[in-house]
Amino acid sequence: MTEAKPKRLIVVATNNRHKLQEMQSILGSAWLVQGAGDVASGLTWEETGSTFRDNARIKINALKPYVKGCILADDSGLCVDALHGAPGVNSSSYGGIEGDHGRNVQRLLAHMRDVPDHERGAHFYCLILFLNERGEEEMFEGRCFGRISRQPSGQGGFGYDPVFIPDGYNLTMAEMSERDKNAISHRGRALTEFMKDRS
Ligand code: IMP
Repeated sequence: MTEAKPKRLIVVATNNRHKLQEMQSILGSAWLVQGAGDVASGLTWEETGSTFRDNARIKINALKPYVKGCILADDSGLCVDALHGAPGVNSSSYGGIEGDHGRNVQRLLAHMRDVPDHERGAHFYCLILFLNERGEEEMFEGRCFGRISRQPSGQGGFGYDPVFIPDGYNLTMAEMSERDKNAISHRGRALTEFMKDRS
C-alpha cells in the first residue's frame, strides 16, 4: 500500500472566502489552502498600489510576519477596452464602495451604455506572486478574454461575473458551472502556470 503524500500548505493573502474556495478547487487535494484570517485573525491591508504587481506585493508583505512557509498573493481585475483598461486595479472599488459588487457592475454598465456590441471587448487579468520555501518571489499571469453584456445575468461566481461573457460562450461567467469557469478564468490560468512549475 502506498502512503498518501502529505498536503502542501499554502497561505493565500485574501479574506475573500469565495476566492479561497475557488483556489482550493483549482489547486486540488495535494494542497491545503488557508486564508489570511486563518493565520492572523482580523488582518487587513490597504491596496494602494498603482499596478496589480504592487498590490500583490502589499498582500505578501502584510502576511510575511505571520507565516513561516509559502505565501501566495493574487491581484486581479477587469480591464475594459472601451474604458482604456478601467476599472483595472480599481475593480473592487469602482462603484464607490470597496467590495460592493452590485454597485461596481451598475457603474460599469452605465459607462458602457452607448458602447456598441463590437466595441465591448474586455479581459480579466490575474497576477500571482508566490513566496516560495526559499523566500524567493515567483510571478505568474493569466488572462481571460471576452465581452461585457448589456445586463447582468446568472447567480454564480462573484464580482463582474454576471456581465462578462467569455470568448466562445453565449453565457456570462455567473451562468457557468464553477468547474467551467475555473478551466478558463484568469485565476485558473495563472494557477495552472503556477502548478506547472511545481509538478
Ligand atoms: P482581487 O484583487 O482578486 O481581490 O479582485 C479585485 C476585484 O476584481 C474583485 O473585487 C472583482 O470586482 C474583480 N474580480 C477579480 N476576479 C474576478 C472574477 O473571477 N470574477 C469577477 N470579478 C472578479
